[in-house]
Amino acid sequence: MPSDAQHLPVLYESALALLEVCAGGWYIDATCGLGGHSHGILERSAPGGRLLMIDRDPQALAIAEERLAGYANRFESHCGSFSDMAVVAEESGYNQVDGILFDLGVSSLQLDEPQRGFSFLHDGPLDMRMNPTTGASAADLVNHAEESALADLIYLYGEERRARRVARAIVAARPLRSTAQLAEVVDRAVGFSGKIHPATRTFQALRIATNSELDELQRALPQTLRLLKPGGVLAVISFHSLEDRIVKQFMQRESQDCICPPELPVCRCDHHAMLTRLTRKPVIADEAEVAANPRARSAKLRAARRTEAAA
Ligand SMILES: C[S@@+](CC[C@H](N)C(=O)[O-])C[C@H]1O[C@@H](n2cnc3c(N)ncnc32)[C@H](O)[C@@H]1O
Repeated sequence: MPSDAQHLPVLYESALALLEVCAGGWYIDATCGLGGHSHGILERSAPGGRLLMIDRDPQALAIAEERLAGYANRFESHCGSFSDMAVVAEESGYNQVDGILFDLGVSSLQLDEPQRGFSFLHDGPLDMRMNPTTGASAADLVNHAEESALADLIYLYGEERRARRVARAIVAARPLRSTAQLAEVVDRAVGFSGKIHPATRTFQALRIATNSELDELQRALPQTLRLLKPGGVLAVISFHSLEDRIVKQFMQRESQDCICPPELPVCRCDHHAMLTRLTRKPVIADEAEVAANPRARSAKLRAARRTEAAA
């Protein structure tokens, strides 16, 4: 495991074991971040293994490239969204790979850097874009969205029961420019109840919406079927139930030969199982990992192996 204490990759051993990283294998790390998992893949696939590293965060990718400079002749890196992975992978020859890893969500760099605006623990501009050079920020969203749209997204993506109250308070307090301002508004609207900070759910919702995270995942997963070679492994680490549900349902559906509605007497779907699930229940972090890295508490790892069926 990398000794860099600044970033402990979540479920590191389990993910690499499920991917069965081997000498000479070809891999895609769809969420390279600071390169923790990528480092393990490059180490274990030596001497001839190859890795395509993707991340939409240019700052993270630059750090990963520098950290992994010693392996530079064995990796390619691409700054962009993983929903475009098929095009990027095919263009760079990664179209029959041994494994694809997604470690979803935000990196420690994004969370800990106040300027990135992801966390209510540090005051900073209300940004939350994983790629800060493009698209609308969280401030654009909270200052311009209709109250009902804000309430819906806070309810759906944050699973916040008091979403209407939060949205009303946000609209009344506009314009909001900083993370501290937003956290205070949410705190005043709903107050502490239970263990988590009252702004946790609203921040999660705004982050998911700002980065279209669920849509990205839904668009990327089907592309992995044509990029994995038979026997290749897809491994996904998710951090909240909305992501995990998408991964679970995708793996379930793609591991069935027939997906016709049960009332149809004869199969008409012509679907073939493209995956065999390797994890019926998600792998989770043990107590030692959670103690060392509290973020691992909510991580769920699922994996599946590509069958021989044609894509
Ligand atoms: C949890 S971190 C990955 C950490 C990484 N496994 C490591 O060991 O350093 C998640 C990363 O995924 C990236 N990411 C999230 N959604 C993305 C998307 N749709 N396309 C590309 N990168 C994405 C984020 O920018 C972030 O750097």
